[in-house]
Formats: sequence, structure tokens, C-alpha cells
Amino acid sequence: MSTRTILITGGAGFIGSHVVRLFVNKYPDYRIINLDKLTYAGNLANLKDIEDKPNYSFVKADICDFDTVLKVITDNRVDGIIHLAAESHVDRSIKDPFTFAQTNVIGTLSMLQAAKAYWESLPEKYEGKRFYHISTDEVYGALELTHPEGIEPPFTTKASSGKHHLAYGESFFTEDLKYQPHSPYSAAKASSDHFVRAFHDTYGMPTIVTNCSNNYGPYQFPEKLIPLFVNNIRHRKPLPVYGKGENVRDWLYVEDHARAIDLIFHEGTVAETYNIGGFNEWKNIDIVKTLIRVTDRLLGRPEGADDDLITYVTDRAGHDLRYAIDSRKLQKELGWEPSLQFEEGIEKTIRWYLENQDWLDNVTSGDYQKYYEEMYKGR
Ligand code: NAD
Ligand code: TYD
Repeated sequence: MSTRTILITGGAGFIGSHVVRLFVNKYPDYRIINLDKLTYAGNLANLKDIEDKPNYSFVKADICDFDTVLKVITDNRVDGIIHLAAESHVDRSIKDPFTFAQTNVIGTLSMLQAAKAYWESLPEKYEGKRFYHISTDEVYGALELTHPEGIEPPFTTKASSGKHHLAYGESFFTEDLKYQPHSPYSAAKASSDHFVRAFHDTYGMPTIVTNCSNNYGPYQFPEKLIPLFVNNIRHRKPLPVYGKGENVRDWLYVEDHARAIDLIFHEGTVAETYNIGGFNEWKNIDIVKTLIRVTDRLLGRPEGADDDLITYVTDRAGHDLRYAIDSRKLQKELGWEPSLQFEEGIEKTIRWYLENQDWLDNVTSGDYQKYYEEMYKGR
């Protein structure tokens, strides 16, 4: 593929920063443009190590601002787009669905329209172009939790064969499943996925969509379960577990997601959908106990000393019970596999947050702190 100038949206966020870092380091001949509005979730400190590289540039812009997006795409002769910019936190979407519709739906439409306007103006049109949309497994809705104690998983990978790996039901999210989003976040992501596919079907735009499971790793904003809880354990603050902690999520190390994005961007088939996940299901309460055990050990406290921080709080409205991705299509067709055992990935992640307290303090100051207090008032 001849793509050489790639626009990555949302590159200052959690997953986006790992994708930008991978592309900037791995492809010195590509020009990588990171377009990000720098909302509360975007932080250029996530990219300090690559910001001076000659093949990297940053543009502060809103994806909903069609004129600016079109100008950036046109002036830079962008031939590939990896679109990650979004509002991404379910709890925020429950409080403020309008912002999610605006950014995730209208923002994606604005990206698509701008790419279409520029690419259709070229003699070669869509040849050698790619619009790659990053989505979530949450669009499929929730799976049944038929085996609360867990069963032997039907599928394994190198990285999912660790001793804690279990499956909590027989059904999995496959690419052909009907969309059944439940939260305003997943409804907005589902809508954006439909627009991306519509641009392929209607205009012939070479699009790809991937739906990935929950990511974990460095630089995740500490409103999400893992960084929030590691930080709270360190400071001996309560750990607000929603409901009974029985909900199941399928966790993937963020660098494995970034590797999958690289592979699919270059070798994926246009108009296809690929599910990305590590066959790594965990009940929230088991994750929380693991976080306490490992964080305590790394801080030199007796393991489990902070178990009493666990605080069961009112459940999240419409809380999806179980997510579990079947990623065999990606494994079979493109040979991708997660690289890390969960035990290894989670320890690496916790260590990173403990060693980067400055980063946490920086992103949890100011506006975010006010929001946080508001969100947890009364829980
Ligand atoms: P994040 O919230 O950490 O980062 C989002 C980034 O988008 C931030 O840098 C923010 O500044 C930017 N942004 C938000 N609104 C914008 C706008 N209007 N214009 C330009 N930039 C804007 O999110 P994340 O967890 O890194 O997720 C990235 C993408 O991956 C999202 O599309 C999300 O739906 C998807 N995804 C996330 C997960 C996960 O576990 N985090 C799993 C699967 C898919
Ligand atoms: P989260 O990291 O918000 O990701 P998502 O909702 O996209 O899966 O939450 C992961 C799981 O942890 C989810 O089931 C909700 C639960 N959770 C809590 O129990 N307490 C918390 O404070 C948070 C943020 C999440």
C-alpha cells in the first residue's frame, strides 16, 4: 500500500497515543499528523518521547469543525486516516448524551465528508486511500453470564493461557452479530460505525471498522476502572465497585491493540470488520482484588492489606453484564495474536502508574477533579 501521510485523530488520548508512538517509531518514512481537540482526556504529555521526531506533527482541532478538518487533509495530502477521536467514558455519556452524539456521530461524519471531498477531487480518487474507524465491542450490547464461576475457555491464544483465564458463557461477540447498544456511548459509536460503512456502500470509500474489547495499559485517563483504582489504592481511598462487581469485561493490553491497528491498516481487507480481543475475561471484583494484591506488593504493603477499601456502590444505569470478543477472524486471516499474558500486562501497567504519579496528578487536577467530585457525590 502506498499510503505515506496518515492523519490519526484522538492521538493525544489513551489508545491514540500508543498508535501514534508505534507509527512514528516504526515508519520513519511516513508523515504522521495527530489531530486532537485536547479535551479533558487528551494530553500531549502522553507523547513527550516522540514529539520532536521529524515525521510527527500535531494539530489542535475539533473533528466536528469540517472546514478545518478539510483544510488539514487537503494541505497535507492525507491518504490514510485512522480515526480514534471520541468521547469514550460510559458514565459521562449517561450524564451528557448530547456531547457523545456530537463528537462520536457528527464528528465522524465530518471526518468522512472531509475525506470524501478531498479524495474525490484527486485524479486517482480513492485508489491507495484508507479510512480506518476504531470502534468498540460495546456496540454489540451485552452477553449472557451463564457460568458465574467460569468455564474452560473454548478458544485460547498464547497470551490468554494464563491460569486465571476463564470464560463466563458460551456466546461471544462475532463480526456478524446484530448491533444492540445500550448506553449513550455505545449507541453513538454504533451510529458512527453505520456511517462509516454507509460511506463505503454509497460512495465506494475504502473503509475498515474494528471493534475492540476493553484496553488497559499506561496513559489511560484515571476515570476508567484500572488507573482509577490503582491511584485510589496508593492513596488509600475507597474503591467504588458498581453493583456486586459481577460484570465481566474482556481485557487487552493497549500495545497489542495498537499492533492490531497497524496490521489491519496495512493488510486488512476494505469494507471488512475485524473484532479485536485477547480471550481474557475477568469479573470486575476479581480484577479489583488483583489490583489490590499487586499494588500492595509493589508498594511494600502486605498483599491484600487494602481489601477494606472495596466499597460496593449503586450500579451503573443499564450496566452491560458481559463482554467477550471472538477474535478468531483476525487471528486466522491476518495472523494477529495478543503478545502479553494478563498477569504480566497488569503488573507492568500498575508499575507504570506507581512510577508516574506526576502524570496522574497532572491529569487529575483542575476541571477533572471538579467533575469527579460531582460524579461520585451521593454514590
Ligand atoms: P480517550 O478518551 O482516552 O481519548 C480520546 C481522545 O479524543 C482524546 O485525546 C480527546 O482529546 C480526543 N477528542 C475527543 N473529542 C474530540 C474532538 N471533538 N475533536 C478532536 N479530538 C477529540 O479514548 P480512548 O480510550 O483512547 O479511545 C480511543 C478510541 O478507541 C475511541 O474511539 C473509543 O471508542 C475506542 N475504543 C476504546 C476502548 C477502551 O477500552 N478505551 C476499547 C475499544 C475501542
Ligand atoms: P470502564 O473502565 O469504565 O470501562 P467500560 O464501562 O467501557 O467497560 O469500566 C470497566 C468495568 O468496571 C465496568 O463494568 C464498570 C466497572 N467500574 C466500577 O465498578 N467502578 C468504577 O469506578 C468504574 C470506573 C468502573
